Amino acid sequence: MKLNLKVWRQKNANVAGKLVDYTVDGLNPDMSFLEMVDVLNDHLVKKGEEPVAFDHDCREGICGMCSMYIDGRAHGPQHAATTCQLYLRSFKDGDTVHVEPWRSRAFPIVKDLVTDRSAFDRIIAAGGFISVNTGQAQDANNLPVDKHDAEKAMDAAACIGCGACVAACPNGAAMLFVSAKISQLALLPQGQPERDLRALRMVEQMDAEGFGNCSNIGACEAECPKEIKLTNIARMNRDFLAASVGSETE
Ligand code: SF4
Ligand code: FES
Repeated sequence: MKLNLKVWRQKNANVAGKLVDYTVDGLNPDMSFLEMVDVLNDHLVKKGEEPVAFDHDCREGICGMCSMYIDGRAHGPQHAATTCQLYLRSFKDGDTVHVEPWRSRAFPIVKDLVTDRSAFDRIIAAGGFISVNTGQAQDANNLPVDKHDAEKAMDAAACIGCGACVAACPNGAAMLFVSAKISQLALLPQGQPERDLRALRMVEQMDAEGFGNCSNIGACEAECPKEIKLTNIARMNRDFLAASVGSETE
């Protein structure tokens, strides 16, 4: 099959970028979208041209690296899938496909389709962990966890930090990501000692990074490849409010 691509090319954050036309022929419909970009890059290198820079690592929906906008959708047209899990059979032979990087103030463009998502790392470093004294591992039965809480925590922990929620949100809000990272610990007994401080610090860092505010549009949940739920945002807001009131009365 053949695809007509319009790919965003930009040397670095300081120069203007533009969409450049490429045609890639002889594609197998069972190729992944990233394999198709590999084929394009192979052609470009053989012609002596600069290959398209794009992020990828696991290529199986785990690492969250393959961030790109495809035809105006974060991770493309397939529901609950990352770009590396998108296959060319989702397109028709001869389709024109637009490929762009995440567009968000807090994710500056590094080159072509690569953006700097280190703001997420700084939010995690601000509080997305539990402090533990190392020692002998406890017996699992010493710390019983309610099955429903365990399932909700696991659902929140499915977030791969891809940034599609930010890219899809017209406000550039990161609340789905941050709330998933807060919830995965807030729902477990191990997360309780630092629960208030965690919510305060992570939300503070999120605001400092320049992400927008949530206005309940829901594009984040609709585009999230891991189907992270908006209820996590409600939990984060409750935790943040409770922690703010608590810190003022102390
Ligand atoms: S909440 Fe979903 S869209 Fe946002 S970073 Fe996590 S996995 Fe990606
Ligand atoms: S390359 Fe790892 S999630 Fe797509």
